[in-house]
Amino acid sequence: MGENSGWFENTVFYEIYVPSFCDGNGDGIGDLPGVTSKMNYLKELGVGAIWLTPFYPSPLVDNGYDVSDYFAVHEKYGTEADFDRLLEAAHDAGIRVIADMVLNHTSTSHAWFLKSRENQEKYRDYYIWREKIPNNWESFFDGGAWEYDEIRRMYYYHAFSREQACLNWSNPAILEECKEILRFWLDKGVDGFRLDVINFLKTDKAAFAKDNPCDDGIQKHIYDKNQKGVREAVAGLSAFVHTYPDAFLLGEIGDDDLQTIQSYTGKGLLDAAFNFNLGSMEKWDEAYLAEQVTAMEAAGINPTLFFSSHDMRRHFSRLCSENVEAAKLLALFLLTAKGIPFLYQGEEMPLADVRIESSQDLQDAQGRYAYEKMLLLGKTEEEAFGYARERTRDYARGLIDWDLQREGGLQELYQSLLTLRREHEALRTGKYGKIAMNGQLFYFERIGRREKIAVTIDFSLTGMISAGYGGNPVLLEIKGGNGCMGLVEKLV
Ligand code: BGC
Repeated sequence: MGENSGWFENTVFYEIYVPSFCDGNGDGIGDLPGVTSKMNYLKELGVGAIWLTPFYPSPLVDNGYDVSDYFAVHEKYGTEADFDRLLEAAHDAGIRVIADMVLNHTSTSHAWFLKSRENQEKYRDYYIWREKIPNNWESFFDGGAWEYDEIRRMYYYHAFSREQACLNWSNPAILEECKEILRFWLDKGVDGFRLDVINFLKTDKAAFAKDNPCDDGIQKHIYDKNQKGVREAVAGLSAFVHTYPDAFLLGEIGDDDLQTIQSYTGKGLLDAAFNFNLGSMEKWDEAYLAEQVTAMEAAGINPTLFFSSHDMRRHFSRLCSENVEAAKLLALFLLTAKGIPFLYQGEEMPLADVRIESSQDLQDAQGRYAYEKMLLLGKTEEEAFGYARERTRDYARGLIDWDLQREGGLQELYQSLLTLRREHEALRTGKYGKIAMNGQLFYFERIGRREKIAVTIDFSLTGMISAGYGGNPVLLEIKGGNGCMGLVEKLV
């Protein structure tokens, strides 16, 4: 852990994807005043912090993860004064705010890139330029990661879209520039940051000489992430951020390897890693869940607990087949397991995936690139759309309709679980006791300083649990099927 009181370990976060959370001015796009207007809702729900996805000026090629000015607010989302009001309202409600910070790359419209492509001395090495394409690296969105620039007459490297040029972290000036950005928002009062794709920073010039291996035509991203020097860069950011009392530094780690994830956290590094071992589950698999929970515990990782985010399909559709009872059981796990929960906007309602019916519905850069690539390869419209539909991240990005009546009691359950977690230290920070999966019955214990709590979840949805089993006081029960599907008991 960094120099921080550890408040984040006691906190449930709520991700707000700014363009689609709440539209405050009726233009059809979510905005900062919209977020502020929902502060009471968030307080009543019981979350302790919100994570705001990028709201900075940007051409919005990748919905704001292509920043063109780090010191302002995109006009579509409001003004700097709106941001200040949001922060004040959140703090008044007892809710902390962390801002998404994209320091791996900038938009190619950013002033640094414009000067770099003109070869201006100070900015010449702010990005990664090569005379010739040096390796086979592919972008994470689709296609080659090197783009020829007609002005500088060189290739620049981009790990995502060609409009998102990667910064050259071998250049010490980048860390200094980034500290100024962080200072600006910390001085305003933000409580921390979520560092986007932070293990992708390009810190090692030698790594560029190596081709990534391919398996069945699919590139394995080996040399373009976790480079030698990334931890030093993270340490530089951490040292700066932690000069602000209690600031929290979360880093998105795009890697499933537990030791790799672990290596970015600890004193002087990240306070926590945003890891995908649970979140990226494609299909519901309780055995996999239990296996990952056990493996992360053995590796000493305090994991991030989530099944949905703006980058994946909503778990209500993806994992629960849009069955509210199943969503209740996943909520029970998310809010009683060990780790830091990150709820995604609307999962408590519940919200289902947006329907993607035709290529007109593809908004996301990853989906659009996939579609264009297939057409260029001579595929039919139908084939191209089929391919893109699997890759697009539009499913969880629809604007929330706040007027819709929600039924089924999920929201009430989220509220009860959030209250339970707040009231029981064992559920927030307790160690695991026994962890067992018996058929589709998942059982685990959380051991706190003064109490021991057991959670039993019947993922078969049939209600196999005998409530109050063993005569222990029941803290929460989820009824359904033929009886009890979820149970939280106080053992000691
Ligand atoms: C963000 C994505 C974004 C990518 C590139 C990710 O991890 O969550 O939405 O496209 O970084 O910035």
